Amino acid sequence: MTNIYAVILAAGKGTRMKSKLYKVLHPVCGKPMVEHVIDHISSLHTAQIVTIVGHGAEKVKGYLEGKSEFALQEEQLGTAHAVMQAEALLGEKEGCTLVVCGDTPLIKPSTMEALVKYHEEQQAKATILTAYADQPDGYGRIIRGEDGMVEKIVEHKDATEEERQVKEINTGTYCFDNRYLFDTLKKVSNDNAQGEYYLPDVIEILKKAGETVAAYQTDDFNETLGVNDRVALSQAETIMRRRINEQHMRNGVTIISPENTFIGPDVSIGSDTVIHPGTVLKGRTVIGSECEIGPNSEIDNCQIGDETVVRHSVAADSEVGSRVAIGPFAHIRPASAIGDEAKIGNFVEVKKTTFGKGSKASHLSYIGDAEVGSGVNLGCGSITVNYDGKNKALTKIEDDAFIGCNSNLIAPVTIGKGAYVAAGSTITDDVPGNALSVARARQVNKENYVENLNSKK
Ligand code: UD1
Ligand code: CA
Repeated sequence: MTNIYAVILAAGKGTRMKSKLYKVLHPVCGKPMVEHVIDHISSLHTAQIVTIVGHGAEKVKGYLEGKSEFALQEEQLGTAHAVMQAEALLGEKEGCTLVVCGDTPLIKPSTMEALVKYHEEQQAKATILTAYADQPDGYGRIIRGEDGMVEKIVEHKDATEEERQVKEINTGTYCFDNRYLFDTLKKVSNDNAQGEYYLPDVIEILKKAGETVAAYQTDDFNETLGVNDRVALSQAETIMRRRINEQHMRNGVTIISPENTFIGPDVSIGSDTVIHPGTVLKGRTVIGSECEIGPNSEIDNCQIGDETVVRHSVAADSEVGSRVAIGPFAHIRPASAIGDEAKIGNFVEVKKTTFGKGSKASHLSYIGDAEVGSGVNLGCGSITVNYDGKNKALTKIEDDAFIGCNSNLIAPVTIGKGAYVAAGSTITDDVPGNALSVARARQVNKENYVENLNSKK
């Protein structure tokens, strides 16, 4: 098999987005659109990927570091000029080169693969990925000759009324013979409505030189949507969301309301897990089997075991074990690890804490910078006082300790194994294992207080 190279066009500003954020960095299902493109291409085992950057080059490179090489297009003179910037990296290579726009995040790897295969079968010098669009406005049109063969691509702005009637469009994805691509780019002019060097003009030049030019049509226009404005962005979001959710459902995940469930492209979910409406799963979240997630929960970059329940809660950058109950209304902040069978109940916030197996904080607690052993019970309203205004300090609660309601544990402090802390205590010193610590004022009852008060009037 021949080597496959790829060039991704991502130097444009994206004026039609009306945004400070460069177009190709606008996220679709939580991931920048250009990163979708690169991740899809990477799955084809390409020999080299070159991304053309220009507007916001440093930012774009920041997102794609390690996934692509880069070539800078200092001035955006058009898509042909953009590809030319890859010449120093790819010009001498033998093989075929895929060119994909950074703003078409929905093209599937299988379609790109089929395009390359077709290109090779046809022994073409260039093969265009085309699609039928009900509303082709804005896209380049595929102009075929009487023999049905592709003659050229005409941009919408340059097209005649008759050409605008054509509904077969250029998706902006192509496969070229690499040598022919770079030779032909030099012959492209900018004599057109936009004064730009158009990559699609390569097709007409090759055709006129008698070379074989082919077109591979996908039957799914949805795949080829180019995101030029926020309307298309929301359409891309909807299409990709459906695609991701359907994949999970086919894998054995129940999604009660797919239209109201937002799952990122890099999330994995075990079978027989049920996702309830209003759930947002982001980053590299991994959820085990037979869990109940949601309703209304946001989970970012977490690893969750099996049979765990998360209701109406938020969790980020943390690990959660199996058979854990979280929520309703809990907040698991980064760098936390919640052990198996633990319970983090209503209005409990956990931060940078390990919380051992079977431990419980059922109501109204803040547990930050803590190491909580197994079998610990934190009573309602108990709090780790981890911050003195300058530094954060550690609270250790050893196995089987019992912390009474409304206790303040002033860190650094250790509650020994099996110790009891009386309700309402403010603990400033370590508590030995198996001790009972009471740290509160004694109760005083003043008898006949009201009578005495009234007699003074
Ligand atoms: C382009 C195609 C059109 C096709 C459509 C598919 C051209 C001239 N037209 O039009 O035939 O139907 O895509 O979506 O190619 N870019 C650069 N440098 C530049 C100009 C653009 O890197 O100098 C990048 C942009 O960042 C973008 C991509 O190329 O990711 C496409 O550019 P865009 O301006 O969106 O082209 P379209 O008008 O959509
Ligand atoms: Ca576009």
